[in-house]
Amino acid sequence: MKHELIETRAGLLGVLIALVISVGGLVEIVPLYFSSQVTTPAPGVKPYTALQLEGRDIFIREGCYNCHSQMVRPLRAETERYGHYSLAGESVYDHPFQFGSKRTGPDLARVGGRYSDEWHRVHLSNPRDVVPESNMPAYAWLANERVDAMLTPRKLKLMRTLGVPYNEQEIEQASRDVQDKTEMDALIAYLQGLGIASKGWH
Ligand code: HEC
Repeated sequence: MKHELIETRAGLLGVLIALVISVGGLVEIVPLYFSSQVTTPAPGVKPYTALQLEGRDIFIREGCYNCHSQMVRPLRAETERYGHYSLAGESVYDHPFQFGSKRTGPDLARVGGRYSDEWHRVHLSNPRDVVPESNMPAYAWLANERVDAMLTPRKLKLMRTLGVPYNEQEIEQASRDVQDKTEMDALIAYLQGLGIASKGWH
């Protein structure tokens, strides 16, 4: 009887659905604001260097996340292939985070240190030179583009407003750190830093 009362009134049903979803959502979201686990960096996790931060912007600009996730799930098949599962405390300096969900290529959360810089250089220029069956696009032009060093200090400052603890000296030095570096240098520096903190966890 009561069911019929709700099911025959679309407006009332809508209001009740909204109410249930809001309460359910809040129960999941609100505790995260008070949990130190998601706001404290995991052991060994450091803010990106100026060059890595530039590389991260290129990762986003080129849409690498469309084919690569950065999130190792706590499942055996995943941890055996990639390494330690991802922790919330690894993403505290990631604004926005790059978890992704589509895996046309492998997850990259643990790729730091897996290959040499030179391997990445060849791979990014033409993936088929090192992985013949690869269908990843080539990004050869990144080696010809220079990072815009004028913008780097502003990017660090912006990150600071979001809670990344860069100090004045790091911000002041940022332009010099990326001076004359190519976009490929920056992207490789970013990739080589991914997940290296996790190597110390067991
Ligand atoms: C269309 C999908 C696609 C896009 C876009 C893409 N990749 Fe890939 N990527 C792949 C595939 C497939 C592989 C596996 C074959 C290979 O190694 O080339 C791969 C492999 C990789 C690897 C080696 C990972 C490992 O553990 O062996 C790295 C590093 C990588 N990609 C970085 C990037 C970066 C950086 C970008 C953006 C500039 C990018 N990819 C864009 C599909 C993609």
